Amino acid sequence: METPVLNQLSPRLRGLLGTDSTPAVVTADPAIRTADRLAASVPYLVLDPGTDLAGLQAAIAVYRAAHGANPEGALVTGVAAMGFGPTRAAADAALARLTGATVVPVPAPPIGRLAGKVAMVTGAAQGFGLGIAEQLLAHGASVILADLNIEGARSHASRLTAEHGAGRADAVRIDVSDPDSCQEAVAEAVVRYGGVDVFVSNAGVLRAEGVMTQPVADFDLVTNVNYRGYFLCVRAIAPVMAAQHEAAPDSWLDIVEINSKSGLEGSKRNFAYAGSKFGGIGLTQSFALELVEDGIKVNALCPGNFLDGPLWSDPERGLFVQYLRAGKVPGATTVADVRRFYEAKVPMGRGALPTDVAKALLYVVEQTYETGQAVPITGGQNMLS
Ligand SMILES: NC(=O)c1ccc[n+]([C@@H]2O[C@H](COP(=O)([O-])OP(=O)(O)OC[C@H]3O[C@@H](n4cnc5c(N)ncnc54)[C@H](O)[C@@H]3O)[C@@H](O)[C@H]2O)c1
Repeated sequence: METPVLNQLSPRLRGLLGTDSTPAVVTADPAIRTADRLAASVPYLVLDPGTDLAGLQAAIAVYRAAHGANPEGALVTGVAAMGFGPTRAAADAALARLTGATVVPVPAPPIGRLAGKVAMVTGAAQGFGLGIAEQLLAHGASVILADLNIEGARSHASRLTAEHGAGRADAVRIDVSDPDSCQEAVAEAVVRYGGVDVFVSNAGVLRAEGVMTQPVADFDLVTNVNYRGYFLCVRAIAPVMAAQHEAAPDSWLDIVEINSKSGLEGSKRNFAYAGSKFGGIGLTQSFALELVEDGIKVNALCPGNFLDGPLWSDPERGLFVQYLRAGKVPGATTVADVRRFYEAKVPMGRGALPTDVAKALLYVVEQTYETGQAVPITGGQNMLS
C-alpha cells in the first residue's frame, strides 16, 4: 500500500471537496491503479501521486469547468482509484460506479452534533473505548474502532453497522505501543475514509502494585501503552490531520486523550498508571502548543472510575473481585461491599459512564477557543485548583 501518497492526498481532497462544516469522505481501492480498470462512461480526476495542494486545487477547478460539478472519483496513477462523497456509503457508491462494481443503495446521511465527522478510537473493543465509540455514533459520527483485539473490534463494528447503517463503523488492528502498527492503522483509516477528524487515544492498561514490589516489566507495559502509545498515535495521525487542515484552513481537528483522575492526583500503590497519566497531560499540553499551528486541538479527558466497565466489574478478573480477595477494603465481604466503598468516595455517589465522558468530548470538539486542557469527569471526586 502506497501509504505516504494517500496520507497526504486523501485528507487534502477531503478538505477541498467538503462543505464549510463537513469534510468529504474519500475512499480508496489500492488494488485498482490503472485507467483500463475503470468504467469508460464515468468521468473522474486523474492525479499524479506527487500532486501538491495547489495542483489539486487546479485539477478540481478544471474538472468543475468541464463538468459543472465536483468530481466523484479519481485515479491516482499507479496508486489507487478513489470515490468521493458526503458519507462513506456515498463515497463507496461513487467508487463502485467508477470501477464498474455493484452499486448498493446509499442510506440517508446521519444527523447529530457530530454528523459528517470521522472518528477513530483506540482500545475500542471494550470498556470506555467501546462506550465512547457508541456515543460518537449516536451523535452522528462515523467511527473506526481500533484495538489490539481485532476480533472484538470487528464484531462490535459489525453490530454497530447493523444498528447505524453501512459505512458508519469499521475496525482496524492497532498496537499503540508499536510505531509501525500505529502507522499501518492510520494508513488503513485513510484508505477507507480519507482521514480522521476526531482521534481518541483511549487504549490503556493498569498494573497496580507497590513501589517496592512492582515487576519492572509491568511498569514498562503501563508506560509503553499509556504514555509512549499516546505519543506514537499522535505521531502517526497528526500529519494526516495537518494535510486536511492545510486544504480547509477554517476547520479544526481534534485529538482527545482519555486520561484519568489518576492524571490529576497521585494513586496509592498505582504509581505506574498515575505516572503514565500525569505524563499524558504533559504530552497533551505540549502537543496542543505545537499542533495549534496545524489546526489541531489537543485535550485530555479525566474520568473517574468506570465501575460498571469490565476493568472493575469483570466477574473473574475485575478490580472488585481482586480487591475483595486481597482484603484491600477493610470489612468488605462481598463484591457489593467493595463497590459501595468506591461509590462512597464520589460526592455524586456513582461511577463514571461513557455517556458522561461523551458530554465532555462533545464540549472539547465543539470548542473553537480551547486547547491543551484536562477536563475532569469525576462526579466531584477531583476538583481543579
Ligand atoms: N475503567 C476505569 O475506571 C477508567 C477510569 C479512568 C480512565 N480510564 C482510562 O480509560 C481508558 C480505557 O480503559 P478501560 O477501563 O475501558 O480499559 P479496558 O481494559 O476495559 O479496555 C482497554 C482496551 O484497550 C485495548 N488495548 C490494550 N492494550 C492495547 C494496545 N497496546 N494497543 C491497542 N489496544 C490495546 C484492549 O484490548 C481493550 O479493548 C484507559 O486509558 C484508562 O486509563 C479508565
